[in-house]
Amino acid sequence: MILKFPKNFYWGTATSAYQVEGGIRNDWSNAGEKYDAGIACDHYNRFEEDFDLAKSMNNNAHRFSIEWARIEPKPGVFDQKEIEHYRNAILMLKQRNLEPFITLYHWTLPVWFVEKGHWLNKDASKYFTNFVEKIVEEYKDLVKFWITINEPNVYTSHSFLRGNWPPFEKSFYKVQEVVRNLVDSHKKSYRIIHKISPNFQVGIANNNNCFQGILKYFSEHYWNHQFFDAIKDYQDFVGVNYYIPVSLWRNLIRADGEKSDMSWEIYPEGIYHVLKDLRQYKKPVYITENGLADAKDEKRPKFILDHLKWIHKAIEGGVDVRGYFHWSLIDNFEWDKGFEPRFGLVEIDYKNNLKRIPRPSSKIYAEICKNNALNI
Ligand code: BGC
Repeated sequence: MILKFPKNFYWGTATSAYQVEGGIRNDWSNAGEKYDAGIACDHYNRFEEDFDLAKSMNNNAHRFSIEWARIEPKPGVFDQKEIEHYRNAILMLKQRNLEPFITLYHWTLPVWFVEKGHWLNKDASKYFTNFVEKIVEEYKDLVKFWITINEPNVYTSHSFLRGNWPPFEKSFYKVQEVVRNLVDSHKKSYRIIHKISPNFQVGIANNNNCFQGILKYFSEHYWNHQFFDAIKDYQDFVGVNYYIPVSLWRNLIRADGEKSDMSWEIYPEGIYHVLKDLRQYKKPVYITENGLADAKDEKRPKFILDHLKWIHKAIEGGVDVRGYFHWSLIDNFEWDKGFEPRFGLVEIDYKNNLKRIPRPSSKIYAEICKNNALNI
């Protein structure tokens, strides 16, 4: 059976600067050895090779983030060389017919911003939007899609509630303050970006889970909808990252029991429920991340096929899904878990010069992207 995807569907992969680039000094690298990504995948120097890999998968889009700490090493001081670096990267994407989707904030921060009180500073949104305005002005001739903030819910929960990521805060009260400042930063960025061009498409990428169990509605409200509700008049699309089902207090739906290398349950049907639930925002939807840690690439081929099958069903059911970005193009620095979890369609051989080795699943993904269809 052939399942066709809509015309002009965007097929891509996603990365984030700190996880792949290498050589970045920011609040994470400053937080001690465990948090220092070091040279990572040296994507900063090897991005052309990596974009060639994306091209070889017949992708027509690519999502990546710009590292604020590189661009603005001191408040109000912009580094022209770094601006040129990302400009060149964007040009290399365009040369390969890969539509750039830029994330402006994927969790890592300039040290000076943190020293000023990070997202708890009452001027945080002023600093952030200053950076946003600079970037969008610089690349406005090349980029249309802007993702202001990656997974504000995951970020606030690790960095301000559980306290296992910089700045290691554990305070429910502070979470509320940070949420307020992130929402404010997004809304101001939205206005700024639209002032630069009304045609630009602006959104966030939220992490939505497929919740099960008795606390389903409560958790959906706080985890899946808090940010989308807060910014709902300030988004041109809904960006969603889907990874897992979460059962809170008794499982009502049974997941199929398969798990990734990180013990995350694999539940492809979950993406269908998550997508259906996003219809309420009446905006185009982009799946800005979806993937799994699977070093042996044993489960990834089926993972991709099964998730896309459910995505297709959601589209048939009326959800306006316009793109899919697999996480990730290459193996990378998985935050506090280090380099062990392998999320890449392409393996990085860390012991052998960071050699790029495409996994078999990349061929399967390439075939789907080429045909704009699943053959199941
Ligand atoms: C994040 C990525 C991360 C991935 C896998 C998402 O929550 O945006 O940075 O690597 O999940 O954990």
